[in-house]
Amino acid sequence: TWTMESFVDKEVERIRQLVGPTAQVVGAVSGGVDSTVAAVLMKRAIGDRFHAILVDNGVMRWKECETVKATLQEKLGINLVVADAAELFLGRLKGVIDPEKKRKIIGLSFIEIFEQEASRIDEELASHGESKIQYLLQGTLYPDVIESISFKGPSATIKTHHNVGGLPEKLKMKIIEPLRELFKDEVRALGSILGVDEELIWRHPFPGPGLAIRILGEVTPSQVEIARKADKILIEEIRTAELYKNISQAFCVLLPVLAVGVMGDQRTYEQVIAIRCVETTDFMTADWYPFPYDVLKRISGRITNEVRGVNRVVYDVSSKPPATIEWE
Ligand code: XMP
Repeated sequence: TWTMESFVDKEVERIRQLVGPTAQVVGAVSGGVDSTVAAVLMKRAIGDRFHAILVDNGVMRWKECETVKATLQEKLGINLVVADAAELFLGRLKGVIDPEKKRKIIGLSFIEIFEQEASRIDEELASHGESKIQYLLQGTLYPDVIESISFKGPSATIKTHHNVGGLPEKLKMKIIEPLRELFKDEVRALGSILGVDEELIWRHPFPGPGLAIRILGEVTPSQVEIARKADKILIEEIRTAELYKNISQAFCVLLPVLAVGVMGDQRTYEQVIAIRCVETTDFMTADWYPFPYDVLKRISGRITNEVRGVNRVVYDVSSKPPATIEWE
């Protein structure tokens, strides 16, 4: 009979056979469940011959880079390099307001930085007389494989671009996809067996373009800071209220409008945060989450009190369709 334990043993063996005794493997990690589970499996199979690369694109969440580093490197013992490219990404995003342009800039820059980092690792290995990088790990799941075959709209094609087959041409690497026969719930079960934290296993999906598509209008360092703080508060309160697992995806959107408010006897003219929380099984359709008022009230109070530059919070009551889950 098929069990997750037997899957681990078989897959580890298959990876060892495929990669052989000396070749090296690279893979991008994001802190999400798929890339993390794939990385842990790889570490199990070939140890430090697997090199994980985390690209800091400047639009990740609050302390996300540090958190991923602590989890993957320190806790799971994975050989990790962090490419600090925040300034480069933010520089290229300057003045850009079109959502698809943001996606394109981030997607292409990601590939560029990833390739750079992989080449650097390759050179370093060569200087130690070690074998070259010959494989690229991808955390592709079965639904991604299906999705890349059928067209499902603008964000699906980008997701495809990001997850399936869109990576390095130049490096001439062969692709390893240990999760390509698994569904999400199976990847979670696998992660559990491999010792990945429950919190990470149940993490809501986070888009490749990150906060850039949750900051409507121009993405500037100060806008990123506002979006990060608001998002942090939302997630904290949702966790405290023990609602995190009931919601499929929860995030804040920073709107490019100014609204009038009042603080003390001063008139303010500041930005608006929209809270977006949805319930869905397949992310193709979604319902807005019927948020308990008391929690909503606490979140709104905290955001307007703690996040400088925001004086108003609204709750998004749109289903998908006709709205999408993200605002961009
Ligand atoms: P939409 O907004 O299309 O989102 O209803 C459906 C799911 O896809 C995620 N999403 C993305 N993921 N790159 C990604 O990796 C993207 O460009 C992208 N756009 C949307 C979204 O967060 C939701 O889970």
